Amino acid sequence: MADYDYDVLVIGAGPGGYVAAIRAAQLGLKTACAEGRETLGGTCLNVGCIPSKAMLHASEYFEAAAGGAMAAMGIKVTPELDLGTMHGQRKDAVKGLTGGIEFLFKKNKVDWLKGYAQFTGKDSVEVAGKTYRAKNIIIATGSSVTPLPGVAVDNDKGVIVDSTGALELAKVPGHMVVIGGGVIGLELGSVWRRLGAKVTVVEFLDQILPGMDGDVRKEANKIFKKQGMDFKLKTKVTGAEVKGKKAVLTLEPAAGGDAETLEADVVLVSIGRCPNTDGLALDKAGLTTNQRGQIETDHDFRTAVDGIWAIGDVVPGPMLAHKAEDEGIACAENIAGLTGIVNHDVIPSVVYTWPEIAGVGLTEEQAVEKAGGEKGDVKVGKFPMLANSRAKTNHEPDGFVKVIADAKSDRVLGVWIIAVPAGTMIAQAAQAMEFGATSEDIAYTCHAHPTHSEAIKEAAMAVTGKPIHI
Ligand code: FAD
Ligand code: NAI
Repeated sequence: MADYDYDVLVIGAGPGGYVAAIRAAQLGLKTACAEGRETLGGTCLNVGCIPSKAMLHASEYFEAAAGGAMAAMGIKVTPELDLGTMHGQRKDAVKGLTGGIEFLFKKNKVDWLKGYAQFTGKDSVEVAGKTYRAKNIIIATGSSVTPLPGVAVDNDKGVIVDSTGALELAKVPGHMVVIGGGVIGLELGSVWRRLGAKVTVVEFLDQILPGMDGDVRKEANKIFKKQGMDFKLKTKVTGAEVKGKKAVLTLEPAAGGDAETLEADVVLVSIGRCPNTDGLALDKAGLTTNQRGQIETDHDFRTAVDGIWAIGDVVPGPMLAHKAEDEGIACAENIAGLTGIVNHDVIPSVVYTWPEIAGVGLTEEQAVEKAGGEKGDVKVGKFPMLANSRAKTNHEPDGFVKVIADAKSDRVLGVWIIAVPAGTMIAQAAQAMEFGATSEDIAYTCHAHPTHSEAIKEAAMAVTGKPIHI
């Protein structure tokens, strides 16, 4: 490697990039990671997964105290919101975890090249005025908020914000309008609703949470409505005007029609994210992006240019931290000559609302379509959380587990859960699917009692029509 500075140079230190860098170094490769942010960890640790969960968790406690759930269990408290402290614990969580990655880089001898990288050739990049040559370059530059024309985000003003601004609001808005009924809108909308805001979600499609199972989307909408969120479905925002400390939005039916206005103290723009490739000078490396701005790779994460690899939010697939991490590990292993594989058919996804919403594998609609549109080729078992002893005892009756299996082989094709700990429960379903389990395998696996997970066993039993508790 005489004239290379590194065996592996990773661009971006998010869950994809930092994990790839650590795994490459563990495998004995001389590794560097370029990151322009002041701290490592990417979107996820700095402004995504971690700070949002810190606010979700804290606001759950607040609502349990303020909303009467604690009083119902004999704990009477009158909570007072100290938003400064709540933000403080969020920042502490971020600081602790991003600092932890810096420690892991040092421990594994990964060089952090501080600055934004851009290609100067197919095996070289420039970072902070210095050029580095690497035998392998992994692009892990992640994604950024998709802008909405006519609705300009200004996180500093705090009136029209994106997810980063919505994590940091200095006070609870009177009325928050969320544009986009996807994961970010529902999670961050839930945070501020629990803390006292009236929340209206404006969604372009006829239902929230696109991509999820149809039953789940309907049930989730019902639950969030019951919690007090307002929904304007089949509606698009065509413009926004900031007047002092308020925003006035113009809305129209998605299919066209009369416009109406809606006033908000805070508007959250959460209509999706797009891959970060601007500023990389991809042309210098001979790379292009597809129509969606993503970098295409093969199954091993190789791009069209030999020696350049790509992983995480910048490549096609769900924009999820665990997917990026697994791709990071597999990509580093492939570079080291091992066989790194990610099973993209079994990537769980979780919405961290109350209750949580989780899924893995196919939706019922996808399973039926894959079976050639024949409903009879797919078997479905459902079990309501209301009939699960632990959920009932904990006063958590909302939701269900749905197991979708192939009618002939009984192999599990997908599992969907709405339950308070759905994010934890879904791991079992993912593992079962990874091992090629049938619904009968799950139904005959002993589950501890009383746990929410018993609902997965009963839903699996329901696939062949024999649950015990309903
Ligand atoms: P990123 O985490 O985006 O990291 C890319 C890094 O590359 C960034 O730090 C960026 O500064 C750096 N970079 C970009 N260009 C360059 C360059 N030219 N040179 C050097 N560095 C560069 N996912 C989940 O699975 N669970 C969750 O709970 C979850 N919650 C989320 C909440 C919010 C509010 C948001 C916004 C996202 C959330 N996500 C969640 C999604 C998750 O954050 C992303 O899927 C994940 O971070 C993608 O990882 P990545 O490594 O591909 O990219
Ligand atoms: P999203 O893709 O989840 O949802 C965007 C929503 O906005 C969709 O329902 C879409 O129909 C709607 N929309 C699009 N244009 C619109 C318009 N003009 N007007 C009204 N509605 C419109 O995107 P979101 O919530 O921004 O999240 C981005 C990514 O971040 C997601 O891909 C998600 O995977 C990731 N993420 C993951 C989390 C998790 O795993 N818990 C948490 C937060 C984000």
